[in-house]
Amino acid sequence: HESITKIKYIDKLQFGNYEIDTWYFSPFPEEYGKARTLYVCEYCLKYMRFRDSYAYHLYECERRRPPGREIYRKGNISIYEVNGKEESLYCQLLCLMAKLFLDHKVLYFDMDPFFFYILCETDKEGSHIVGYFSKEKKSLDNNNVACILVLPPHQRKGFGKLLIAFSYELSRKEGVIGSPEKPLSDLGRLSYRSYWAYTLLELMKNRCAPEQVAIKELSDMSGITHDDIIYTLQSMKMIKYWKGQNVICVTAKTIHDHLQLPQFKQPKLTIDTDYLVWRPHT
Ligand code: COA
Ligand code: NA
Repeated sequence: HESITKIKYIDKLQFGNYEIDTWYFSPFPEEYGKARTLYVCEYCLKYMRFRDSYAYHLYECERRRPPGREIYRKGNISIYEVNGKEESLYCQLLCLMAKLFLDHKVLYFDMDPFFFYILCETDKEGSHIVGYFSKEKKSLDNNNVACILVLPPHQRKGFGKLLIAFSYELSRKEGVIGSPEKPLSDLGRLSYRSYWAYTLLELMKNRCAPEQVAIKELSDMSGITHDDIIYTLQSMKMIKYWKGQNVICVTAKTIHDHLQLPQFKQPKLTIDTDYLVWRPHT
């Protein structure tokens, strides 16, 4: 991939109250791309090279939340839906910043085909971006996530799996069995596998005869694709290839034992669909 060979100049991102070490190259234009530290307004996402211009901008900028519509709010957690066509500058800035943490993603500048779902934590100052995912408006492969990111200071707190759960809730409302765009990064794969494994174990646990469950049935209940289910169950050695077919091979006990393992713990954060105000776009 082209991006891997590009030199990363920007070492640090000053964003809200955080100074964040960057991970990968991102194609910020000329002189910005060569700055050591880049200053980015956490509300409008404008980027700057100098601390002074940043300080002045913070004083001047009146935005306190992402654009678009707030489609979910419970407690201090909100999710905004931003239309790439209506807010192309904001979405481009978001993608440019996100690329600092995404390896093998090509950056497209045409935002029209995407919606962006922005997860925020709100306090009396405003709505602070924690992470987001993008989603194609029309996906031929039924991808329900294109790119997903939780900013490094907020990682490992359950926000990634919260966004993943949210993406499946949107698909559920659309009546679609969806899947994230491949290839996944290592962290992406770990997070998805963790979400899929726990979701499937819980569904099978609640079956009276888990050894008779069919992949199709799990797929319908969870919204997870056939292939993603096979991948996940294989990683837990719960599938056998028998007479030309993949067959689930579990007992109540193997499910129970797996759920005791530390890696299959209950999610720290969950989506409460009572607070989702959204209908599929037609
Ligand atoms: N080491 C080992 N396991 C990890 C891990 C790490 N550094 N980061 C995540 N995981 C696994 C764990 O199982 C974790 O669950 P646990 O904390 O309950 O054990 C699970 O993945 C997800 O954790 P969660 O806190 O919900 O995810 P997150 O908020 O850290 O966000 C990503 C996950 C993928 C969104 C985040 O790592 C990220 O933005 N990475 C950079 C961008 C990227 O690679 N995106 C995917 C592109 S396809
Ligand atoms: Na557990």
